[in-house]
Amino acid sequence: MSAPNKSYDPVEVEALKPEEIERMRDEALAAFAAAGDLDALAHAKTAHTGGTSPLALANREIGALPPQAKAAAGKLVGQARGAVSKALAARQAELEAERDARVLVEEAVDVTLPYDRVPAGARHPLTTLMERVSDVFVSMGYEIAEGPEVEAEWFNFDALNFVPDHPARQMQDTFFVRGTTPEGTATEGDESGVVLRTHTSPVQARTLIDREPPVYVVCPGRVYRTDELDATHTPVFHQIELLAVDEGLTMADLKGTLDHMVQALFGSDMKTRLRPNFFPFTEPSAEMDMLCYVCRGESVGNPDRPCRTCGSEGWIELGGCGMVNPKVLVACGVDPEKYSGFAFGFGIERMLMFRHNVEDMRDMVEGDVRFTRPFGMEI
Ligand code: PHE
Repeated sequence: MSAPNKSYDPVEVEALKPEEIERMRDEALAAFAAAGDLDALAHAKTAHTGGTSPLALANREIGALPPQAKAAAGKLVGQARGAVSKALAARQAELEAERDARVLVEEAVDVTLPYDRVPAGARHPLTTLMERVSDVFVSMGYEIAEGPEVEAEWFNFDALNFVPDHPARQMQDTFFVRGTTPEGTATEGDESGVVLRTHTSPVQARTLIDREPPVYVVCPGRVYRTDELDATHTPVFHQIELLAVDEGLTMADLKGTLDHMVQALFGSDMKTRLRPNFFPFTEPSAEMDMLCYVCRGESVGNPDRPCRTCGSEGWIELGGCGMVNPKVLVACGVDPEKYSGFAFGFGIERMLMFRHNVEDMRDMVEGDVRFTRPFGMEI
């Protein structure tokens, strides 16, 4: 219990003397000014404005004063506390501004400094597309078959029923590899019997010689033709070949397999169409088209909706196909009375071009990561 108020005597209440209040205020202001950072200011704040600070204690003393003295003392303390909190806010703002300016400098990132990590590369989209197409068939039970890129003329042409004077056998179409005769002299041009394979079809012959039917293989690989590199040609490109040889295979199996492939790659409403054609190693042979994956055929006869991808034809040419010519089966030791087969082959570059709107084939061969990166890191 507090004692009853005595009569007012300012001398008795030391803490409320004007000089004392001024001193408390000045000490607070000095402490704030001396605080060199926000931590120091926080300490000074507790010491000079907290519940046990001299001014807070003085403020509490006011209650003990006789009524006639309260107003003057209250004004005095109030002004002092006002000045203190104003100085505190000002110093706080000043120190925060200093800190912000310092952080901006200290934590600045120099974006021109050399990059210290080896940038991740990207797989070439031709590789990923080739794997993706192969996967469609692997998931159907096909195996991957491979063959050499430097190939015997016999596998590339003869076994596939190319007649001896077929134009593809000429040096303006095919790269012949210079060889050595048994006598040790260099062979010239097309005498060597060795070529850079012009298509993946020699793998058909190699596979049939190696394995007993039933044969279900898919062969992705690099092929060569003597074309100049330009926007739509490249002397080195990629094909995927498919070969199935079994009892009772028909053109309907070929068609169903092609439809399955384009549906797996381009969507379930896709389909293919076959147009008669000629290849020495298939009979009958066909050119295979797939429905234009952009307009889905809707641009045909529809001038309001032209399609740039298929030139409003509704179809995109994919490659060649057909039933394996019995002569090829015979050349490879397979009985054509018992077995039949189908095959198809198409270019990966072309598919990449229309599937991803790549306009210039040269971009695919230059090896610039700025081309490959946007295709992402699909594995
Ligand atoms: N090898 C042919 C080409 O390069 C494509 C093809 C493959 C055709 C298999 C029929 C069967 O054009």
